[in-house]
Amino acid sequence: MRLFVVLPLISLLLPAPANAAEDGARAFTPCRACHSLDPAERGLPGPNLSGVIGRPVGSDAGFDYSPVLRKARDEGLRWDVKLLEAFLADPAAMFPGLWMSMRGIEDTAERQALVKFLADPSSR
Ligand code: HEC
Repeated sequence: MRLFVVLPLISLLLPAPANAAEDGARAFTPCRACHSLDPAERGLPGPNLSGVIGRPVGSDAGFDYSPVLRKARDEGLRWDVKLLEAFLADPAAMFPGLWMSMRGIEDTAERQALVKFLADPSSR
């Protein structure tokens, strides 16, 4: 009986869920050390990620990719929402020998928000 009173109270005390676009932008913050979403920005340690969804894996022409990503590109693999989400869960498991020193994102909601943000960074 008391639970009916306590549970709604707890949900009132918890912070309201932030909107997904904000979560996505926040989740991208650590990636910015190595990646840009501005097509004109060059010279970072990682490939440019503007328009990444829909483009072939390993296709930033100005970036020197690892053999494992070059092989995936030659095999015709493309980034879509599903592939990107799986990649971000555990990048090195998908591409053994990957040159990206970044652990996976365990939280599914955070990964989904991040992929959404990458698909449409202007939704910030
Ligand atoms: C320490 C630097 C670094 C960080 C931090 C980093 N990356 Fe990377 N990322 C790289 C490098 C280097 C590559 C290229 C890897 C290779 O050639 O094997 C890469 C490749 C990628 C690719 C493939 C791009 C393509 O053109 O096919 C995606 C997608 C990606 N990173 C997303 C992310 C996201 C999202 C984050 C943040 C959660 C992130 N990365 C954090 C360095 C980084």
